[in-house]
Amino acid sequence: MRYALIGLGRIAPNHIRAAKSNGLEIVAVCCRDPEELRLAMKRLELDHSKVRAYTDHRRLLSECAPELVAVATSSGAHAQIALDCIDSGANVLVEKPMAMSLEDADEMIRRAALKKVKLGVCHQNRFNKAIQKMHQAVEDQALGRMLYGTIQVRWSRGEAYYRQAAWRGTWADDGGCLMNQCIHGIDLLRWMMGNDVIDVTAVTARQRHPYIEGEDLGLAIVRFANGGYGMIEGTVNCYDDDFEERLCLFGTEGTVCVGGLATNRMETWHVRGETDADAVCRENSQESENVYGSGHDLVYADMLQAVAEDRSPAIDGQAGRRALELVLAIYASAQQGQPISLPLLKGSALAFRSDFGADDS
Ligand SMILES: NC(=O)c1ccc[n+]([C@@H]2O[C@H](COP(=O)([O-])OP(=O)(O)OC[C@H]3O[C@@H](n4cnc5c(N)ncnc54)[C@H](O)[C@@H]3O)[C@@H](O)[C@H]2O)c1
Repeated sequence: MRYALIGLGRIAPNHIRAAKSNGLEIVAVCCRDPEELRLAMKRLELDHSKVRAYTDHRRLLSECAPELVAVATSSGAHAQIALDCIDSGANVLVEKPMAMSLEDADEMIRRAALKKVKLGVCHQNRFNKAIQKMHQAVEDQALGRMLYGTIQVRWSRGEAYYRQAAWRGTWADDGGCLMNQCIHGIDLLRWMMGNDVIDVTAVTARQRHPYIEGEDLGLAIVRFANGGYGMIEGTVNCYDDDFEERLCLFGTEGTVCVGGLATNRMETWHVRGETDADAVCRENSQESENVYGSGHDLVYADMLQAVAEDRSPAIDGQAGRRALELVLAIYASAQQGQPISLPLLKGSALAFRSDFGADDS
């Protein structure tokens, strides 16, 4: 399948690796800065005689007609580029968050359906072994009735990280730590605890990064329609280094916790009837060299299967929208100082532009 990647920054190597390991024919890449493009071709070891390099994604689409495009630009550019790809007839894998507004997410979903192309979102941690095992237990009702779930994303991002690119930490192009770093965990919590949410009550703060617009700490309580509760804790303020991303589920018949740097290690498997919990933990843990993990390969494999079988990708546009919706509801609750009911029909990160005055750090 003819493949192209748009956006050649930090996450690009994971996409190129996934494209290669899934046997895709990389026909073109794009990044809007010519010098960055030149360096990226080298860094990603792309062969100029096979891979065409563009600074304009629309030209790439019209001249190369890729069948699958991955969009890994700054988040604020995802929606328009993804829509252009969809309109060109390409299947699309878009990085998280899929868009900065629900209106844009809805348009992406609508247009993909109209053009009969697949739309997938890179919430790759869903494919971690431990997460797959946990989700299977939820599906099988092995944990009994779900009472409570917690996601804790405790990472570290310093000034140098935010200064790398002007889009980081802005409401138009990124959001704060919940929208960028914690959205994976927020996706997982919702996937495990139930898609139907009654409401969310939250506070956010900017404690250590006065040069960004968004939050660097977010705390939220979620009430699920099935009677379960969720707690979300996300920060990029940990001292010196990433600490952990931990997802715990508490059901009437079991307690399961997945930890590690990025929900990659099964740490607790305490489930009724289980006789060898240590083996379950051992067999369902993977080491992760960084917080991105290695799930992109599996996201790509699933997308190719989805195209071949003409089914939805496992993490489709609706899944991406649910994670985005919950983050936007958290922001709205923090801004208004009251619970926010779901579902949200509209909402945009730009609505939080006035939050965090210049000297509240
Ligand atoms: N799934 C994950 O675990 C994961 C990890 C990191 C980043 N991300 C997401 O991936 C995206 C990129 O993050 P990054 O850290 O690689 O950013 P980055 O700043 O390192 O790279 C962004 C790239 O997009 C290019 N770009 C921006 N606008 C463009 C446009 N209109 N046309 C063409 N190219 C354009 C830039 O030139 C740059 O090459 C973000 O949405 C981020 O949230 C996901």
